[in-house]
Amino acid sequence: MKFKIILCILALVLLAQLIRPKELSSAKAAPVNMLAGVPKEVAKVLETSCFDCHSAQTNWQWFDKLTPANFLVASHIREGRKAVDFSQWDSLAIPQRNALLYSALNAILSKEMPLSSYTALHPAAKLNQKDTGLLKNYLLNKAVSKPSAVENTANGNGQTFIKEVKKSPNGIGYIADYRNWKAISTTDRFDNGTIRIIFGNPTAVKAIHEGKTNPWPDGTMFAKTAWKQQQAKDGSVYAGQFVQVEFMIKNVQRYADTKGWGWARWKGDDLLPYGKTVKFDSECISCHRPERNNDYVFTTPLDIKDFNKK
Ligand code: HEC
Ligand code: HEC
Repeated sequence: MKFKIILCILALVLLAQLIRPKELSSAKAAPVNMLAGVPKEVAKVLETSCFDCHSAQTNWQWFDKLTPANFLVASHIREGRKAVDFSQWDSLAIPQRNALLYSALNAILSKEMPLSSYTALHPAAKLNQKDTGLLKNYLLNKAVSKPSAVENTANGNGQTFIKEVKKSPNGIGYIADYRNWKAISTTDRFDNGTIRIIFGNPTAVKAIHEGKTNPWPDGTMFAKTAWKQQQAKDGSVYAGQFVQVEFMIKNVQRYADTKGWGWARWKGDDLLPYGKTVKFDSECISCHRPERNNDYVFTTPLDIKDFNKK
């Protein structure tokens, strides 16, 4: 008797395998054209952790395909693709692609994605710090280095460089090279109206690695950029109009009067120097004063610890 019941159940389970959601029946869908324009290693992170639910390219395990588990999987795919579909990549305009990547980063940083129920069974899809760092650094540098962010500016003239930038009232000249420095910090949740990214020059990065950040060595330079946060139709957020870039340049002797740092700020797409008088930087100093025991630098040590782990 018992044996018959087991046999019956087994037959039902086998029979059930004939009923399958269409999302999984189409065997292996054509591979997505690996996110054209995105560096391979960055695209790889998204492919491994997100494509199963957010693209036509799925790579489900045998146990995902068993009925009834496959119905849950199919609903993830349906819902997931509705929210974000990387298969659409080739048909998206550049700003939409950027928006998609920023929303992906947001979802990852906020730990909403990938779904934890999924990573429990698919540990390879779990993101480590290095994976997240790759995506983050790519987007941070993208926000400042290439024309696509400039394309989104209000005047939309796609201008990528400015012939001559005026000096700051205290004599400090503009440093265009900061775009090639390393991003050392950002606001993790882009939710306060601007997206801020802080860059450190090679001297700063070396000091971080050596743990010699208080005081920072002469030659250290920081750039803090701010971009207006822009919202896409789907609610995702990305870097829009350029607001300003600010610098701190360490030289104990030259900048003895201003706490050992040279301070300067340029505003807007036209990079107009900020400050009416030579002494404009007292405003910078007074706001940075709470960090006087940290050599007047805010970005420390939490972000730096984080940075060293990568
Ligand atoms: C197991 C399936 C699954 C995986 C894997 C997965 N997602 Fe999702 N994702 C979903 C579903 C389902 C939704 C829609 C429902 C929701 O918002 O919870 C969604 C929604 C989203 C959204 C929109 C969120 C919002 O707040 O509207 C983003 C962005 C996103 N996913 C990004 C990612 C990224 C990036 C990855 C890879 C790191 C990823 N997802 C991996 C299933 C998945
Ligand atoms: C209203 C207060 C305030 C004023 C005024 C201010 N800052 Fe800052 N600054 C901050 C805060 C807070 C941070 C930390 C990063 C963040 O939260 O954006 C920061 C960070 C920076 C950084 C990155 C290095 C660091 O300390 O983390 C630079 C560079 C910088 N500011 C330059 C300037 C310059 C130049 C001026 C003057 C033209 C200035 N700041 C004026 C508050 C201020």
